[in-house]
Amino acid sequence: MIYLDYSATTPIDPRVTEKWVSVETSFYANANSDHILGRESKRNNDESIRIIADYFKVLPKEVIIMSSAVEANNTAIKGLAEKFPQKTHIISSALEHASVIGALSFLDQRDYEIETLGLDDEGRYDLDQLNKMIREDTLLVTLIGVDSETGIRQPIEEAGKLCHRHHVFFHSDITQLVGKGHFDLTDIDMASASAHKVYGPKGVAVLIKKASVPLIPLLHGGHSFTPYRSSTPQNGLVAAFAETLRLSSLEFDDRFIKVEKLNVYLRSKLEVFPEIHINSNQHSIPHLFNISIQGSRPEEGLAYFSDHGLCFSSKSACSGQDEFSASVYAITRDKALASSSYRISLSHLTTVEELDSLIKVMKTYCSKLCEK
Ligand SMILES: Cc1ncc(COP(=O)(O)O)c(C=O)c1O
Repeated sequence: MIYLDYSATTPIDPRVTEKWVSVETSFYANANSDHILGRESKRNNDESIRIIADYFKVLPKEVIIMSSAVEANNTAIKGLAEKFPQKTHIISSALEHASVIGALSFLDQRDYEIETLGLDDEGRYDLDQLNKMIREDTLLVTLIGVDSETGIRQPIEEAGKLCHRHHVFFHSDITQLVGKGHFDLTDIDMASASAHKVYGPKGVAVLIKKASVPLIPLLHGGHSFTPYRSSTPQNGLVAAFAETLRLSSLEFDDRFIKVEKLNVYLRSKLEVFPEIHINSNQHSIPHLFNISIQGSRPEEGLAYFSDHGLCFSSKSACSGQDEFSASVYAITRDKALASSSYRISLSHLTTVEELDSLIKVMKTYCSKLCEK
């Protein structure tokens, strides 16, 4: 099988597995225990947290370990709302992950007013509009860093600056950005990311929360790395997360250049197909390549591609059973494109031979569609 669904999840790097197993084996004691083995676990955890903090260029106390980015997004949004109940206006976008939409819908049912920021002609946030939307009672602006389907890199740093000028909190889900692009969290109050999108294990993630941001935790009782998320510290998983970020930083340029070349190759081959429209644009990270195939129904198309040894998606894995892609629609304003879109995600592990197989199957699929 050829895997082209790296934005849904990545295979774990064997070096990360090795780190995970070795730390979990050597430092099995509860880091909260007040004996020598507990203190050794804590020392090891402190080192992992320092590596994670350095990667995001924040302080160790600003790193909150979570079990998933879903949990991080929920904690950021609901935790802030709980802290400031008098402010009930939140701004977000049509590109958000299901966990941001879900947390916002939860608040919507409790009389919050959730407004959606529009996009410009190139699928990026309209910051002039954002400037006008912020009000006295705006609690939070939460905007995803990279659209999970088209890969469009959003101007979150500028959005953060704007929010700070208005003294409004800014959160960004940067799960699809980590390891695939550079970012600067200087003006970002909170950011969510997950290890399994960047060749780390599933079940560990982070909420970066600047020290100046107050938050009520979702979970009560018990103690962990910080007061914001209880449970026994996951020694091995956190060390694995630190290792995956360290490797991602160390190997960033090599991985990026490789993926960029693969993207250019794939684009050059697919753009000549008259049935194919490429939805990813000049702002997209090269790891995400989104296309629409005229006349294609994704549920049938995906079954065909899977039967021919190709694994990729039509939408992001968590976007549910909607008939069309909310992201592609938000960016193109075209229902036909949004209801026939496919997300191919690339990695430094992808080979040209794999892409050649994809192109070959795509050609047969498109000619079959024409015969219909
Ligand atoms: C943008 C984005 N946010 C959040 C998530 C959820 O991540 P996790 O699986 O760690 O909960 C995903 C992955 O599906 C994602 O792509």
